[in-house]
Amino acid sequence: MNKVFLSVIVLCLPLLAEAAGGGNNEYIVHAPINLDDKVSLQRGAQIFVNNCLGCHSAQYMRYGRVAEDLGIPPEIMRENMMFTTDRIGDTMHTAMPGDLGKKWFGVVPPDLTLVARVRGEDWLYSYLTNFYEDESRPWGVNNHVFPDVAMPHVLSNMEMELGEDKFNEAMADLTNYMVYMAEPIRAERERLGVYVLIFLAVLAVPVYFLNKEYWKDIH
Ligand code: HEC
Repeated sequence: MNKVFLSVIVLCLPLLAEAAGGGNNEYIVHAPINLDDKVSLQRGAQIFVNNCLGCHSAQYMRYGRVAEDLGIPPEIMRENMMFTTDRIGDTMHTAMPGDLGKKWFGVVPPDLTLVARVRGEDWLYSYLTNFYEDESRPWGVNNHVFPDVAMPHVLSNMEMELGEDKFNEAMADLTNYMVYMAEPIRAERERLGVYVLIFLAVLAVPVYFLNKEYWKDIH
């Protein structure tokens, strides 16, 4: 019963996100993600730990799992990518203490583990690439996809340094990583799906002849 209830909730998440103001759809573009591209996922993970955990958590994901899934050696993970803990088995906490988020931003920066699934990958990619200057806002920026968002444009320096095309590529890597994080087994599930289809196709041959054999005397 509980499982059924949970499934229904999860299936409804995209609808809820839409109802909660999916945002301005004319700015939503297709996210060029590829879960088989380990290098892209590693770059995305690096951007994520460097720039997002300062305010957000990803408390349903462990550093160790990321290292293993993305082929990052544990020493490299420990030295370059873990700023909120020393233990690789820990979940990805935020560096921000308790209620500071609420005080600074008026809203606690939400946990990001599942955000790619809640909002959708296209929404997420478009959100990350659609900050613009707006002096009327507290941080001097606004967002076309999430109007009046309370988050500052934390990657504005990166955007200026890289220029638009390279920045969009970096955001594709970041989105790629966040899609992986929201469903770590998705790449495996999709690969498995192909094998299952091949298996069924191969199985269909003997089943076809067996069927003929069984009915042969009856016809
Ligand atoms: C300086 C603090 C800060 C940093 C750093 C930060 N964010 Fe945020 N973020 C916020 C706040 C505050 C909100 C809530 C905005 C609101 O609800 O108006 C938010 C909201 C979001 C949302 C929308 C969540 C939702 O579904 O409502 C996403 C997605 C997001 N952040 C992604 C990121 C990513 C990716 C990074 C790293 C590149 C990042 N943030 C870095 C403060 C931060």
